[in-house]
Amino acid sequence: MSTTEPTAAQRPVVLQLTDVHVRLSGSHILQGVDLTVRRGGVTALLGRNGAGKTTTVKSVLGLVPAAGTIELTDAAGRVHRLTGRRTHEVVRLGVGYAPEDREVFGGLTVAENLALAERRGSAHHPDRVYELFPELQQRSRQLAGTLSGGQQQMVAIGRLLLNDNQVLLVDEPTKGLAPLLVTEVAEVLARAAEEVTVLLVEQNLSVVRRMAIDAAVVDNGRVVWTGSASELLADADRTRELLGVATSAPLDESRSHSSSGAEGRTREDLPARRSRSAPAPEVGG
Ligand SMILES: Nc1ncnc2c1ncn2[C@@H]1O[C@H](COP(=O)(O)OP(=O)(O)OP(=O)(O)O)[C@@H](O)[C@H]1O
Ligand SMILES: [Mg+2]
Repeated sequence: MSTTEPTAAQRPVVLQLTDVHVRLSGSHILQGVDLTVRRGGVTALLGRNGAGKTTTVKSVLGLVPAAGTIELTDAAGRVHRLTGRRTHEVVRLGVGYAPEDREVFGGLTVAENLALAERRGSAHHPDRVYELFPELQQRSRQLAGTLSGGQQQMVAIGRLLLNDNQVLLVDEPTKGLAPLLVTEVAEVLARAAEEVTVLLVEQNLSVVRRMAIDAAVVDNGRVVWTGSASELLADADRTRELLGVATSAPLDESRSHSSSGAEGRTREDLPARRSRSAPAPEVGG
């Protein structure tokens, strides 16, 4: 995928964070985040546990109170300041969000889950969702709670493709999934990224390697590295320094399989997540 993508400099900016600060419960969590997401493809947001990745994503959505400047540039080139807006306004401007926990309605069918996600004032594309994910069409009457983790992630991402969005913020979609499902979800994301720009928080570096064009590394509430994802992952010393992990040789990049063929795929997860019971974030706006 990366070989045919235009270089970063050719792609217009869709999301720009400048000197973003977030304070939660008296802690200075984001300490001046500068982040640029360019239109088309996947930008990976990387960093160790607790670095501030989720908080960065939440700052865009107005789910945490943020100081600084966050701007969305739509496809027509109009710039919208997001800072200080309420979450529903940010969503209406075309920012789709798939949170860390998929939050699919298990007691509703696939079709009902999708119908619930239709946003008023936006064109709806149920056909696009079913075209991209034929599995969902076959299972449209199945209760979402009986789907596999990978299929539930398809519903979560399908919901975002239902409406016209400028950018999707997807937070750790492969977290806690078995290797086979990681492959399935990566496939889903790659398909989604052909339709809309994605900012992807991801700890599984084989997933990053497979689809990300650009990468940004967060550490201690700041972006400490930005550049080409493949360049970062090819530099073992830098990856170890920034992420605390060693990368192995590139994995099989074959995209021909979707729900099988994960055998032999190595996970390159960052060190085990420490358990943490973070208090619910304050809703800003
Ligand atoms: N509501 C909150 N109140 C106080 N501190 C918080 C709150 N939410 C998060 N934090 C702290 O802010 C820091 C960044 O958290 P964040 O969830 O953004 O990290 P992350 O990079 O997404 O980590 P992970 O990889 O574990 O998901 C952590 O130290 C976390 O404990
Ligand atoms: Mg997180």
